Amino acid sequence: MNYNKKSIEDIDVSGKRVLCRCDFNVPTKNGVITSDKRIVAAMPTIEYLVNHNARVILCSHMGKPKNGPAPEFSLAVVAKRISELLGKEVVMAADVAGADAKAKAAALKDGDVMLLENTRFEKGETKNDPELSKALASMADIFVNDAFGSAHRAHASTAGVADYLPAVCGYLVQKEVSIMGKALANPERPFVAILGGAKVADKLNVINNLLEKVDTLIIGGGMAYTFAAAKGYSVGKSLLDETKIDYCKDMMAKAEAKGVKLLLPIDVVIASSFPSPIDGPVETATVAIDAIPDDMEGLDIGPKTAELFADAVRSAKTVVWNGPMGVFENPTLAKGTIAMAQALADSDATTIVGGGDSAAACEQLGFADKITHISTGGGASLEFLEGKELPGIACLQDK
Ligand code: 3PG
Repeated sequence: MNYNKKSIEDIDVSGKRVLCRCDFNVPTKNGVITSDKRIVAAMPTIEYLVNHNARVILCSHMGKPKNGPAPEFSLAVVAKRISELLGKEVVMAADVAGADAKAKAAALKDGDVMLLENTRFEKGETKNDPELSKALASMADIFVNDAFGSAHRAHASTAGVADYLPAVCGYLVQKEVSIMGKALANPERPFVAILGGAKVADKLNVINNLLEKVDTLIIGGGMAYTFAAAKGYSVGKSLLDETKIDYCKDMMAKAEAKGVKLLLPIDVVIASSFPSPIDGPVETATVAIDAIPDDMEGLDIGPKTAELFADAVRSAKTVVWNGPMGVFENPTLAKGTIAMAQALADSDATTIVGGGDSAAACEQLGFADKITHISTGGGASLEFLEGKELPGIACLQDK
């Protein structure tokens, strides 16, 4: 895939209507935004467009509304936050590409900003319906995609609309793609990848692709137990995907054939059951990976494993991390994930954290500013690491 795409700096936006797709899929609680990270990440592009006299039509999805417009999924709360950050009014449309959006888009003056309603209020959005793409395109002269977090979706507002307008990327997409693209295509070595998370099935292609590129692949989290089973260990009640045991054996053989060091947990923190509530009290013990009792389940990596993994990070020049090492929502079971975040924070290497849980862990633990790059995309960064073509980037004009 060609990541060298034209950006907002390669096209004249002055006086033009610019449809700018962002990923404003931010978490909310009782109608209040609980993290505005994705909005803040989109600001450099929005500010550039405003400062260069574009007439800015922002759009995004939020959540997964299934039955058309629903007030709890309205982007009005996002318009308010952008307006605070920008220091100027952001006009909120009552629909996505209907009469109100079209009238407000037509009334924009140079430097004005508006936000369309949640693109998923239109059924055609997730179907990548050309009619919706055309309706969105009819309001604008240029399409800018800055929604890295949604770049793995081939939807009308992320990709389809690029069939009808000149399409370029914004600063966030440019930054995400250049940092992660360089790490994968031309990494400074040793290159270490750390993968965690619950299920091997979610990371099959990532493991396979990264084994082509890294010097060391570290596997922790729930997915490590299927690897442990593939090595012949009994894993008790730990997460196990029996259908993927052969896959794990293949990956271990591939690592050996390629001379990639594959590091798996050597000790684990176990408990008799998964904590409920997830952050509630839990009684734990630490055992070697080959000594998990039948009635216990592994819920975090142990201290020896944390040291082994941190040691690999210490000698690395490029580190990519995706997925927690244990049930990090629980303080007793967060130590392995904290140790990884600490190892990345202490490292002089280029450190990249894929979005989702590992990004949340770094932020909650206060390590975010010590990491070279924390991706704003969960699913998107994973598909990037899989080496897949992202439709929201593929549709943009090449440089
Ligand atoms: C995300 O939060 O990962 C993106 O906004 C994509 O959201 P989606 O999984 O609902 O498409």
